Amino acid sequence: MLILGIESSCDDTAAAVVRAGEGARAEVLSSVALGQDEAHAPYGGVVPEIAARAHAERLDEVVDRAVEQAGVSYGELDRIAATAGPGLVGGVMAGLTVGKGLALALGVPLVPVNHLAGHALSVLLEAEVAFPYLLLLVSGGHSQLLLVEGPDAFRRLGTTIDDAAGEAFDKTAKLLGLSGGGAGVQRAGEGGNARRFRMPRPLLGRPGCDFSFSGMKTAVRQTAEGLAPLSDGDLRDLAASFQAGAADHLVRQTEAAMMMSPARTTRLVAAGGVAANAHLRERLGTLVEKRGWSLTVPSLRYCTDNAAMIALAGAYVDPSEDALGTAPRPRWPLDE
Ligand code: KG4
Ligand code: ZN
Repeated sequence: MLILGIESSCDDTAAAVVRAGEGARAEVLSSVALGQDEAHAPYGGVVPEIAARAHAERLDEVVDRAVEQAGVSYGELDRIAATAGPGLVGGVMAGLTVGKGLALALGVPLVPVNHLAGHALSVLLEAEVAFPYLLLLVSGGHSQLLLVEGPDAFRRLGTTIDDAAGEAFDKTAKLLGLSGGGAGVQRAGEGGNARRFRMPRPLLGRPGCDFSFSGMKTAVRQTAEGLAPLSDGDLRDLAASFQAGAADHLVRQTEAAMMMSPARTTRLVAAGGVAANAHLRERLGTLVEKRGWSLTVPSLRYCTDNAAMIALAGAYVDPSEDALGTAPRPRWPLDE
């Protein structure tokens, strides 16, 4: 089955063509993504109105490029898969509308896809991985631990009670005057003393595997205020201490989720932009080794928002007659 995927739930305008379906390994024929970092940079965060407009302006071109790069014609597409949520409603609406128009024009089904299902399956774009596996999804918008039992069977074990992990990295970067968000924090903390500043250990001793990052954010702010003006060494140590504290929390809750998983689960998958963090990867590597599990991290282009994962997830959504009436769902829990 040849599927065109469309993704526009946050600040990446993306389209991809993927061959996927029963039994066969998915094959990505093209995956195009245009970021909007520059448009949002002056505001220090994603502005929904600007995002929606940018998606609307660029979706046609991005879809065209995806189809062209795949070397197929529109007439060969078997279905259109578009993200229907969760995410920013204006952006989702823009992508869904383009998807509906194409589906109508081509006479093929439109399937609405949950963005989180895309992240949950993204690892399958590159690797043959057996179900079930545990997914640590850590991006700018989400922090979740999900049990992926099949291509359309997900169980949420934990989620954040305040900020997403990437959001905490982004806010820390902003507080410390660093550019580049989480990657900037990682860079600034290189060679720093991660033990110099104590970070809180959120939700310690509580059952479950939820996340909380607001206390750590406050600790960074108070420490920075107490030291101001920060020397280069202070900055390095504070960035390293925050990064270690955040990784520690993520690893501790991931271990709790491992213990909540069925015994036959022995693979951890980490996805989302924060999974790019070298220190976190190293800590997760140590964790899986200790517990006799294995770790798979998709390459960065499939870790972050992309449309190939949406096309793939779309292979497992049953087409329905009334899909053209689908409305965007800003909130859409994966396991309802
Ligand atoms: O998956 P992603 O591109 O999706 C969105 O949420 O849009 O993730 C972006 C997030 C940002 O919060 C960014 O600061 C974080 O991933 N990030 C990192 C690193 N690289 C990106 N966080 C920590 N360390 C990194 N090296
Ligand atoms: Zn995402």
